[in-house]
Amino acid sequence: MNNNLPDYYHQRAQEYERIYYKPERQTDLEHLKQSLPNHLSGLNVLEIGCGTGFWTQFLAEQTQSILATDINHSVMEIAQSKFQSPSNVSFIKSDMYELTEVNDVFEGVFAGFVWSHIPVEKLTGFLQHIHRFVAPGGKIVFTDNQYAEGSSTPIFITDEQGNTYQKRFLEDGSTHMVLKNFPEDKFLKNVLSGLGEDIQIERLTYFWTLSYRVVGVK
Ligand SMILES: C[S@@+](CC[C@H](N)C(=O)[O-])C[C@H]1O[C@@H](n2cnc3c(N)ncnc32)[C@H](O)[C@@H]1O
Repeated sequence: MNNNLPDYYHQRAQEYERIYYKPERQTDLEHLKQSLPNHLSGLNVLEIGCGTGFWTQFLAEQTQSILATDINHSVMEIAQSKFQSPSNVSFIKSDMYELTEVNDVFEGVFAGFVWSHIPVEKLTGFLQHIHRFVAPGGKIVFTDNQYAEGSSTPIFITDEQGNTYQKRFLEDGSTHMVLKNFPEDKFLKNVLSGLGEDIQIERLTYFWTLSYRVVGVK
């Protein structure tokens, strides 16, 4: 069984967007298509783990510009096909834990369905790292899945740090053990202690959204 997250999303590239066709999630998804761009309206945004650009396409309608990044070329090819040149979206392949290819400072960051894949013990370091790419007061927005019985893949195991894992299957017959965490509000606020202010958390039936502003160095 494979437990390499980038490999899993590379192999899943062509079937990825089927997750957005689940009928029971449509009302929530329509809400997110409005609310996520509203959070970042008019800003120059860095997107982390853009995948096939499903959210990039809605964000691009309201943001000033987006630099969309992902570790996988395969998903970014699909994302790029959604935009015609010239556009306010550009793409760079970059590992979100490094971001060595990213040289600018942004007014906002968006990461969709990325938080859940970060081990809990790495979250603080990850946030401190991405904050280096944002001016103080910059807006950070994460959205991710709420665990929903009957709709979510069941949790298979939990490790000593409290990370939860799902067993997932792809069309090519491969099986993957995928880290997928479902944080509660208290946990999100704890992680942001000293790092974020103006914290807003919205819980829908199938999704949650966290937005906050980066605390400047005092
Ligand atoms: C759940 S998908 C989300 C895709 C997209 N944001 C969306 O909401 O549809 C997670 C994405 O993170 C990317 N990813 C995984 N590990 C990464 C890493 N270390 N650095 C950058 N991207 C990574 C995967 O390639 C995948 O496209």
